[in-house]
Amino acid sequence: MVEFTLPRNSKVQKGKHHAAAPTATRVKTLQVYRWSPDDDQNPRVDTFQIDLDQCGPMVLDALIKIKNEIDPTLTFRRSCREGICGSCAMNIDGTNTLACLKPLDELPDTGKVYPLPHMDVVKDLVPDLTHAYAQYASIKPWLQSESPTEKGQERLQSVEDRAQLDGKWECILCFSCTTSCPSYWWSGEKYLGPAVLLQASRWISDSRDDATGERLDDLEDPFRLFRCHTIMNCTKTCPKGLNPAEAIGEIKRKMVERRT
Ligand code: SF4
Ligand code: FES
Repeated sequence: MVEFTLPRNSKVQKGKHHAAAPTATRVKTLQVYRWSPDDDQNPRVDTFQIDLDQCGPMVLDALIKIKNEIDPTLTFRRSCREGICGSCAMNIDGTNTLACLKPLDELPDTGKVYPLPHMDVVKDLVPDLTHAYAQYASIKPWLQSESPTEKGQERLQSVEDRAQLDGKWECILCFSCTTSCPSYWWSGEKYLGPAVLLQASRWISDSRDDATGERLDDLEDPFRLFRCHTIMNCTKTCPKGLNPAEAIGEIKRKMVERRT
């Protein structure tokens, strides 16, 4: 039988253990993925025991506490700490989500914190999103309209037309969905992935946009759109409760409708 094994430099090793103070009575243990491009070492998993009575309620609070008080080299992205900026997306106990919205109480006694899967790692919990951002730029995520506005003022929408954007404008581009998608893992070079397709759908659905036909033309391709096989991991994992799979289905439906 063929045996597969990881290349030597990909094997994750046991890292350092940081114990909580002996006086701590409520302790949560976090196993945190570490890797630095600077020291030519394999990735490792460090263990941090967190005194919950001395820490805020969310996983992001614990990471900030670790960085401030235990290991200042721990690297992660964060900004708003309230589920708005999308920068703290990571894999927490097997699920892609936002560290600032994930309560420590929802983790088992020992929880795992890893970067978003199947992306190159810049350092520790920071994935390289360069390619994903380039894919986002490729769908031209801005209003395209040549038609003049009434009296040169803003472009108005009916309440019904505006409602077509609901479930789409709320996306914060955290890429939790894209990095949970097996199709994106295998074909991410060419498949746009659920986050970017949800954004494409947002502009296709906008009654003020004049480029709907061109947008659909750009997506009508065996890879960019049609590598979605409705696996639904995207919808299951979205920390904002959105449904990228439905948005992708809507694009496919609009492609069929314009042919009939
Ligand atoms: S659809 Fe949800 S999971 Fe995907 S990028 Fe937007 S907010 Fe994040
Ligand atoms: S820090 Fe902004 S979404 Fe978590």
